[in-house]
Amino acid sequence: ALHGAETIAAVIVEPVAGSAGVLPPPRGYLERLRAICDRHGILLIFDEVITGFGRLGEPFAAQALGVIPDIMTTAKGITNGALPMGAVFAHRKVHDAIVQGPPAAIEFFHGYTYSGHPVACAAALASLEIYRRDGLFTRVKTLAGLWEDSLHALRGKPNVIDIRNIGLMGAIELAPRPDAPGARGYEVLVKALKAGLLVRATGDIIALSPPLIISEAQIGQLFDILGGVLDDVA
Ligand SMILES: Cc1ncc(COP(=O)(O)O)c(C=O)c1O
Repeated sequence: ALHGAETIAAVIVEPVAGSAGVLPPPRGYLERLRAICDRHGILLIFDEVITGFGRLGEPFAAQALGVIPDIMTTAKGITNGALPMGAVFAHRKVHDAIVQGPPAAIEFFHGYTYSGHPVACAAALASLEIYRRDGLFTRVKTLAGLWEDSLHALRGKPNVIDIRNIGLMGAIELAPRPDAPGARGYEVLVKALKAGLLVRATGDIIALSPPLIISEAQIGQLFDILGGVLDDVA
């Protein structure tokens, strides 16, 4: 409304904000965003770098959350993180607008030194085959209940002010120390690492996003370690 929809080419969002602290979208939020973009001819882009490839119990967050973007960016899971690779998926209408230009025009003029690198592509193809063979795109559905219960069982631990989860993502938000925001989260990260558990701390939010092959016993182990660390960090 302030600047005019005609000045906005696209809106890009993570369907579940990851690095910002694991923020599942409020109910109806993505649907509303989709509707606003449609009304004004603005492209909707989902950054599915974290949520893509099975993290939410469906191949992509777009399917898990029922909102289809015009473009999706992906990386991480496409090669299981084993080799660097990213991919952009576009709706047919976006593809055609780019590719069906005047015959003399170079279509979608762009390029990268390592575009379509054969080794990365081999890793991606192998990962996709394993995802299919082991049913990993939907495995999270069978783990989500245990994941949620185990995560929320930490609610009484010292300094915990919020706990959030969606699919196989989770966050434990800790109250920041008045004089040192981020210090408590970092101390949890260091102590967890020493105890054999790798977590991510974004400020005072402990973010969890384990491998899709995690076993039920390992989920128990993960939260045992984390619970002990939270008890131990003042
Ligand atoms: C949601 C999200 N988008 C984008 C990126 C950056 O991706 P890339 O390094 O493939 O450009 C990250 C990296 O952690 C991420 O978490």
